[in-house]
Amino acid sequence: MRLDLQTWQEVERYLLSNRGIIIPVGSIEQHGPMGLIGTDAFCAQAIARAAGDQIKTLVAPTVAMGPAPFNMSFPGTISLGVDTYCAVISEIVLGLSSQGFQKFYFLNGHGANLAPLKTVAKELSRPELIEFRIRSWWDFDAVNRLRQDYYGDWEGMHATPSEISITQAVHRVVEPGEAASPPNPISAEFIKAHAGDRHGPPEEHRRDFPDGRVGSHSALARPQHGEALLRAATDAVAGDCQHWIG
Ligand code: NI
Repeated sequence: MRLDLQTWQEVERYLLSNRGIIIPVGSIEQHGPMGLIGTDAFCAQAIARAAGDQIKTLVAPTVAMGPAPFNMSFPGTISLGVDTYCAVISEIVLGLSSQGFQKFYFLNGHGANLAPLKTVAKELSRPELIEFRIRSWWDFDAVNRLRQDYYGDWEGMHATPSEISITQAVHRVVEPGEAASPPNPISAEFIKAHAGDRHGPPEEHRRDFPDGRVGSHSALARPQHGEALLRAATDAVAGDCQHWIG
C-alpha cells in the first residue's frame, strides 16, 4: 500500500484504524562492478512494499539517499551529510505525525543510516505520540539463514551477493566482469570494527577496495536467491511490523 498512490481522503480514512507507516531507507552508492548504484534503496523498498501489502500498512516513498561519504570517490555515489540526513528524517516524521501518524517503522538497507536514525529516534520519540522501530532487512533469522546457506563468509560487507541477488530479482542482472573472481577476504574483526559502515576517507577507501567490493563475492548472486530472500525478508518484516503496530 504505497502512500504516494493514495488520495488524501484515503489516507484520512486509513488513519482511523491504523496509525502506522513503513519508511524504506537506503543509499545511492557504488556497489562494485555488478551492483546497481541504487541497490540499498531498491532492497529496502521492495521488501517494505511487499510487507506493507501483506499487512495493509502504508509505505512512504523511499528515502533513497543517505550518508555514504566513504564511497564518494566512485562515480555515481550521492551522499548526504549526517546533519542533513537527520533533518530530512525529522521533518518527514514530524510532518506525518502532525497528521495523525504515530508509529514509524524504518526499514533500512544501508549500514551508515543506522546511527543517524537512532539519533533522530532518541530526539523525537514521545510515548503514544511518536514511536520508532528501526530494522535492517538482514536483521531477521530467516533471512540470515539463507545468506549463510547461499554464501557463507563470501557474503562479506559491501556489494554482498544477497543484496545483489535481490536487485537481480527486481531489476536486472549485470555480467560480473572483473567481479567474477573472489575479492580479498576480510576478517571477522574487520567486519566488527567497520560495522555501520565506519570506513575511512573516500580516496583511502577506493585505494583499499579498488573495485568497490568489501569482502563480498558478488558473482555468487542469483535472481532465484533474490526471490527467496525477498520472500523471507517480506514475511519477517510483515510479522515484526504487524506485531509492533498492534
Ligand atoms: Ni548495500
